[in-house]
Amino acid sequence: MKAAVLHEIGGIPRYEDFPDPVAGDDEVIIDVKAVAVENVDKRVAAGTHYASRQYTAQLPAIPAFDGIGALPDGTLVGFGNPRLPYGALAEKTVVPEGSYLPIAEGIDPAIATVLGTAITGMSIKTAAGFRPGETVLVQGATGVAGRLAVQVARLLGAGRIIATGRDDAALAEVGRIGADAVINTAVDDDALVQAYADAKGDGYDVVVDFLWGRPTEVLLRSLVPKSFAFPRPTRLIQVGESAGAGLVLAAESLRTSGVEIYGAAKGLGPQTMQEAYGQVVAWARSGELSFDVVQVPLSDIENAWQRTDLRGSRLVVVP
Ligand SMILES: NC(=O)c1ccc[n+]([C@@H]2O[C@H](COP(=O)([O-])OP(=O)(O)OC[C@H]3O[C@@H](n4cnc5c(N)ncnc54)[C@H](OP(=O)(O)O)[C@@H]3O)[C@@H](O)[C@H]2O)c1
Repeated sequence: MKAAVLHEIGGIPRYEDFPDPVAGDDEVIIDVKAVAVENVDKRVAAGTHYASRQYTAQLPAIPAFDGIGALPDGTLVGFGNPRLPYGALAEKTVVPEGSYLPIAEGIDPAIATVLGTAITGMSIKTAAGFRPGETVLVQGATGVAGRLAVQVARLLGAGRIIATGRDDAALAEVGRIGADAVINTAVDDDALVQAYADAKGDGYDVVVDFLWGRPTEVLLRSLVPKSFAFPRPTRLIQVGESAGAGLVLAAESLRTSGVEIYGAAKGLGPQTMQEAYGQVVAWARSGELSFDVVQVPLSDIENAWQRTDLRGSRLVVVP
């Protein structure tokens, strides 16, 4: 079969022949239909992600650990967890039996790759217990997941939505899809503390955070009251780490600010996942949830992997 093959950590995957996977006990072969190439895949291949050691332990290997494909009986599924060194960026892959979920009927495979990302926006509800009318801050709103989260917050009935990014033109686009106010984080720390404070109105009820690192560290600092006050709770949902894997969490940020921090997986179970997925599918079908997908053939993986012109759009490889 043809596959995108990574030969060395830090290398670029090449379009090559690779032995077909053979299913072992309790495994199933997936006929791959569409795979989103995300920054996390590039970081794993570059050796800069905490999961790199696991996924590149055996080389050559095929990158990407989830995608959309067909089971042997033709059922379209979202799959994950391929057996290494097989990954998703190939004509076929092999996953443990049951490591897949059916895709709603009539949804194009390339679109289906993005609906999984939209579920991260639903963490506003599943993890933070969002109530209509609340104020939502989306950290990293100019990215694919962030743009979806802004729209999800709007569709769930947010009272106000504040969006952060690093680029004024991209932030203007986020304003057009639903943000009431935007903050450019590419300013010094003091100016950013002030910007968070100025934009918060009565306070941020929910923060959906795709950044972590420096912007979130500054945000947490901005939430510390200057003098004693009964804090208004802010529920911060940790989803991504585009700006850094760590931050300094000052004791007073938790002690006096009323901040509660959760992981995006909080509240997720088979039923809530199904409901969240059903909701984003319904919005995608009705056209209320919009996003850009750039499709490329697997044979073009070498060029596609190195593209830097797709900010805010999802690159989807179609074998
Ligand atoms: N937990 C999950 O299920 C899940 C699912 C999807 C995504 N994620 C994670 O969520 C994060 C965002 O994913 P994505 O697909 O939206 O990625 P993306 O499209 O690449 O967007 C990244 C966002 O972070 C911003 N950013 C990148 N580096 C930054 C830095 N050094 N300082 C400040 N801002 C920075 C980008 O700003 P520009 O627009 O200016 O580049 C953009 O707003 C990633 O960490 C991803 O792994 C998690």
